[in-house]
Formats: sequence, structure tokens, C-alpha cells
Amino acid sequence: MTRLKVGIAGCGLVTQVEHLPNLINLPKLFEVVAIADPSATVREALSARHGLRAFVSATEMMAAGLDAIVIATPDSYHADLAVAALERGLHVFSEKPLAYNTADIARIIAARDKAGRVMQVGYMKRFDPAYLMLCDLLHTVDGPLRAVTVDVLDSGSDPFVAHHDMVVGTDVPKALIEEGAARRAAQVKVALGTDADPLVTRGFSGPYSSSLVHDLNVVQGLLDAAGAKMGKPVGAAFIAGNSGGYLSAKLDPTDGLVTMTWMATPRLAYYCERISMVFDDRNFELRFPSPYLNHHLTELIERRANGLALEEIRHRPSYAEPFVEELKAWHAAIVDGAPVVNTAEQAATDMGLFATFAKLALAK
Ligand SMILES: NC(=O)c1ccc[n+]([C@@H]2O[C@H](COP(=O)([O-])OP(=O)(O)OC[C@H]3O[C@@H](n4cnc5c(N)ncnc54)[C@H](O)[C@@H]3O)[C@@H](O)[C@H]2O)c1
Repeated sequence: MTRLKVGIAGCGLVTQVEHLPNLINLPKLFEVVAIADPSATVREALSARHGLRAFVSATEMMAAGLDAIVIATPDSYHADLAVAALERGLHVFSEKPLAYNTADIARIIAARDKAGRVMQVGYMKRFDPAYLMLCDLLHTVDGPLRAVTVDVLDSGSDPFVAHHDMVVGTDVPKALIEEGAARRAAQVKVALGTDADPLVTRGFSGPYSSSLVHDLNVVQGLLDAAGAKMGKPVGAAFIAGNSGGYLSAKLDPTDGLVTMTWMATPRLAYYCERISMVFDDRNFELRFPSPYLNHHLTELIERRANGLALEEIRHRPSYAEPFVEELKAWHAAIVDGAPVVNTAEQAATDMGLFATFAKLALAK
């Protein structure tokens, strides 16, 4: 088995809680050799802790003899770093959103195809055992899908990571923070085809692209399994000072509806993410825990009619951790040529849909 030399660009929350420990815990598959982060505090602490070469610049790190790179920087750097890495012949795993607009994703796809390297997007919920089991169950259901509802209350990560020994860098140069914000605004402008006010940029980049992107992606996988598709968008809004997002679309081919709502609840230490699929005589519900709680089960509840009675089954397929499974799949795609599960094309579909919904929200 080929052990891949990996560098990680961006060493904040998701790297420290998930990618770095998970890569280190897969020593037959990966050797983490380098990290890159503009914060000296973060670089020094992590490189001392794990014996890694540390770089200020992710592009300089790419020349350090890597086979592959994990990109976990702020969103607006994903596209440029992915293209630069592919052009250097590296395999890429990029966090979501892969980019804010489809033009940037098209650049990544072109670079991937030219380089012939693997490009995988960090939609880890597609590796969740409960999601995979629901896909299997959906293949067995007869009858039309009436509705898909998604509702998320997200307190943010603090309650779920406070027990970790995280290093937070308050020393990222101010100019870089400003550059990141300007890049975000410019990239959202390309997505929407117009100058968005800062609140809309926030609604598009936060509730939609950073959060609901997981649900939009997962729902499309579930619809595939159920033989349905997202149809015409019918509603969209940024809510609660654009710290929340809502969208709805017709289901194709039935007359059903998909609705999704995401709300930030920073003063309520509670995380709830539910996807419910409604058929005439069956209902399936996925309840995801905060993503940072490793090996916490996603609940899969199946409800079936039995005359006037109800049968409720709680499935527990496995304790496998989606954040670990996605890395194993990335390795298998690189080394064994296994199909990439989460492609840049999927990301392009997701971000194209968000642009359509955001334009609908703005038109109202
Ligand atoms: N899959 C998931 O569930 C999940 C969860 C959290 C975050 N994410 C994604 O991961 C990415 C990082 O999120 P986070 O919560 O870890 O953010 P964070 O702000 O905690 O960390 C980002 C890190 O990147 C560094 N950085 C900034 N600019 C950089 C650059 N140009 N090159 C290299 N490093 C740079 C910062 O100093 C910081 O350490 C985001 O795209 C986010 O959407 C995904």
C-alpha cells in the first residue's frame, strides 16, 4: 500500500479537531509532513507538537516533496490553492465550499483533468453510515416521495470543541484578513452576477455556502437513491440579519417539495440537523450530531404504517466516523483508482443551485 506524503494548508478548527489527528491516525495510508498557516502561533505549536515542517505560504509548502494536499483554509482561497496544487501534480482534498462560484470550480476541473490527479471535496456526510444505509433503504421504497424537509439549528462549534487543546492564532496579519474578505466579496459577486451588499455576501457565503451546502449535497444523494431530483426553485430568503438561510424547490417528477432552513443560534449551546423524507406510508429521518463530535451516531429513524399502528425502527449501522472514512476514500481514489465519491462536478451543481436560490431571494 502506498503511503502518501501530505501537507495541510490552513490549520484552524477543522484541521486541529479532524484532519490532522485523523491523518496521523491512518499511518499506513498517510504521512503528514508539512503544514502551512499564516499564524506563527499556530505553525509553531503544531509543528512542535507533531514534528512537522511549517510554512507561512501554502504554495511554498507545495514544493516540499508532497504527494497530496489537504486544503482547509478560509473558503475564498480554496480554488486558487487547488489549481496551484493540481498544476504541481499533487492530489487534492479541499474542504467545502470548493468555491463560491462555478467559474472557479470550472478552473479546478480543467486543472484536474490536465494533471490527471484526484480532486475530492470534503462532503464528509456522504460517508456517514446512516446516510449510506438510508440510500440503501430508499432503493426499496415504492410510491412517490412527497416531501423532503431539512432544518438546522447551529450554535457554532464552541460547545463541541471547548474540551480540545486547540491553538487559536490571533496573529494572522490584518492585511491578509482584509484580503480574504475582499476575495470573498469578489467571488460572491461573480456567483450572483451583481454587487451584493455585505449582508447578502454574508448570507450567501455563510448560511448557504458554508452550512446548507452539506445538506444540499446530501439531499441530492438521497434524491438519486429515491429516483427523484430537485426541480424548479420556488422560494429563497436570507433571514435573521442574514445569519440564517431558507430555500425551497419542487421535487421532480412528483408534485412534492424540498425545503431547507438553517439558523445560527450562537447563544444556545445546541446543535440539531434533521433531514426528513416523507412517503405516503413511510417516513425516514436522519439526525446529525455536531460534526465535531467524533463517533457520535447520526440517528436514522424509519417509521412505517401498520394499519393504524406505527412501527418505528432505529437503525445503527456502524460507529465509523465520516471524517475518517472520507480520508480513506481519498487514499483509495489516489492509490487504487477507486471512483471519487465527492467530485468537483457535484460542487459545481451545489454552487450553481445556491446562485439560483440567492438570485431568487434578491429578486424579492
Ligand atoms: N467539513 C466540515 O464539516 C467543515 C467544518 C469546519 C470547517 N470546514 C471548512 O474548512 C475550512 C476551514 O474552516 P475552519 O473552521 O478550520 O476555519 P478557521 O478559521 O478555524 O481556520 C482557518 C485557518 O486557515 C488559516 N489561513 C488563513 N488564510 C490562509 C492561507 N491563505 N493559507 C493557509 N492558511 C490560511 C488561518 O490562520 C486559520 O488557522 C473552511 O473552508 C470551512 O468551510 C468544513
